[in-house]
Amino acid sequence: VTNKIIDLTSSSVSNIIQKGGTMLKTARSKEFRTPEGRQMAYDNMKAAGIDALVVIGGDGSLSGAQIFANEFDVPIVGLPGTIDNDVDGTDETIGYDTALNTIIEAVDKLRDTASSHDRLFFVEVMGNTAGYLSLNGAIASGAEAAIIPEREMEVDQLAELIHNGFRKSKSSAIGLVAENKATGGAMGMAERIKKEFPEFDARVTILGHLQRGGSPTAKDRILASKMGATAIEALSEGQRNVMIGIKNGDYVYVPFKRAIAHSQQMDLKDVDLVRILSM
Ligand code: F6P
Repeated sequence: VTNKIIDLTSSSVSNIIQKGGTMLKTARSKEFRTPEGRQMAYDNMKAAGIDALVVIGGDGSLSGAQIFANEFDVPIVGLPGTIDNDVDGTDETIGYDTALNTIIEAVDKLRDTASSHDRLFFVEVMGNTAGYLSLNGAIASGAEAAIIPEREMEVDQLAELIHNGFRKSKSSAIGLVAENKATGGAMGMAERIKKEFPEFDARVTILGHLQRGGSPTAKDRILASKMGATAIEALSEGQRNVMIGIKNGDYVYVPFKRAIAHSQQMDLKDVDLVRILSM
């Protein structure tokens, strides 16, 4: 949109695989949301001789890619890049595994204080409207519960969370809470404790943007490298308006429409698994 276009050679992208963040500095764009902004982007890319796009991002970026593809005759292939893992048609998104690892490292550290002083903690994790970081973060860190927007936390389940943590050698309880209006976040859970279990004093930790930085895990580096290569293959094969996904270990082409549909249901039996594992 702003015509800040630079050529990237292999040397400009060398020595970045271990870095977090984006050296492209791409971010949400207000202008791109308008037809005038998208026209400007199209004119600029045509003038620069760009004949195809690889769009990396989550829901918003892929929705933008689809709108752009409908308006202009540009081959576009997408890559799912978001810590939220909330893109349909792929088992994993780029960045999700690194964020999960950050979460378990943080929860391991919090467990030290929690079990030293017999405490109850609620740890708020990101995820936008999805509970994947909370659910799989809870399984991987041995938390007593995952509180996610996809399933309501009833008062007896809250009691179970506390009971499971304190009756065992852990002598502490940790609930991972997905940021969301539906869950009320970690602060909301602490408020509930005040009302429903006043004998407990819940502590709150909000992990926030810590989850979006840091050196990527091996899994994410491999996923991103292979997805990037598959995107170029897809364009050379004449594919357009598809996102690269990974399904049961295979790299697949997912139409944009499907990728952003949010119709994929989370496997809620894992919520029970967290409970069973902490019994
Ligand atoms: O979509 C990625 C994400 O990190 C979400 O998990 C979170 O809700 C949001 O972005 C935070 O956005 P911002 O950095 O604009 O506060």
